[in-house]
Amino acid sequence: MDVKEHSTRILAIETSCDETAAAVIGDGVTILSNVVASQTDLHARYGGVFPEVASRQHVEVIHAVVDQAMRQAHLGFGDLDCVAVTRGPGLVGSLLVGMNFAKGLAVSRGLPLLGVNHIEGHIYSLWLTEVAPAIRFPVLTLVVSGGHTELYLMSGHGQYQLLGATLDDAAGEAFDKVGRLLGLPYPGGPAIDEASERGNPAAYRFPRAVMEQEHGYDFSFSGLKTAVMRQVSQYHSPTVMPVADLAASFQAAAVEALVSKTAAAAAATGATAVHVAGGVSANRALRAAMTARLDVPVRVPPLALCTDNAAMIGAAAHFHFIRGRRDSLDLDVVPSLQLT
Ligand code: KG4
Ligand code: ZN
Repeated sequence: MDVKEHSTRILAIETSCDETAAAVIGDGVTILSNVVASQTDLHARYGGVFPEVASRQHVEVIHAVVDQAMRQAHLGFGDLDCVAVTRGPGLVGSLLVGMNFAKGLAVSRGLPLLGVNHIEGHIYSLWLTEVAPAIRFPVLTLVVSGGHTELYLMSGHGQYQLLGATLDDAAGEAFDKVGRLLGLPYPGGPAIDEASERGNPAAYRFPRAVMEQEHGYDFSFSGLKTAVMRQVSQYHSPTVMPVADLAASFQAAAVEALVSKTAAAAAATGATAVHVAGGVSANRALRAAMTARLDVPVRVPPLALCTDNAAMIGAAAHFHFIRGRRDSLDLDVVPSLQLT
């Protein structure tokens, strides 16, 4: 018997923000193709994602991106078992482009449709790594992206307990805002990571905003951002501003806040491992500090799977698909979709 008869192939589409992405995933863990068309350059002039520009660009490229994902996977639509798509959270206009495209494929190709939570996608990026067979629940998962900073205890597939979240800015949002304050290119996260390599993380003592007692495992980054803003205003000209030291000192404070809460939650919950996912999980200082400070194995996705992509959406969809979940063609996007 051909073993391929038993394999599941899911075409996944992700358009929640400013990346138009499509991927084909085999059996939930094998990346058969992974195409990401980034709009970063288009939004750089606005210093952030401009929603109308994002949705228009998704419309322009989604056809080509999906075609390329199918070609890279050497598959026809008849070889697929399902089409999965991000239904939220994200920008409504952007989400709608992916959703409508996926519905069109579902109808025209007779494929089942599956809507995926974008955050769950980030969480399942860890299943696309060689560590997948070693994953044992419960796992503590920190999702750190441009829109989210959340700590979940995952006790099984699709089972999440929210332990803490940001009370104000998301970690990636803080990196992006501070990047702007320091005159670094958009997006600020990678630029701060880069500039920090040349800076002294102890040059400025910015607040760690831990708030252990009052807020348990919640995070807060707005005080840190304000402290950096106050420091920046001391310099009368951007040319005399010690950008690398400011970047490194901000990054040290942000990383410390993320690591200390995660370490406390890991100790309290008895998690077998810590997973870090989302765009900010690409941060080198965060990766190093997590590994150094945690007593349990720390796992991060490969760099290409940290920021938004459709492979992670396909991985998350797989676990719903094999449990029999299918969505109707009435499925709608939910810009503020929650995981729990
Ligand atoms: O997951 P993602 O691609 O999109 C969202 O779902 O939000 O995350 C994007 C965020 C941006 O805020 C970006 O600045 C941040 O991830 N980011 C980083 C790094 N690479 C991306 N932040 C810190 N260090 C990095 N190396
Ligand atoms: Zn994301």
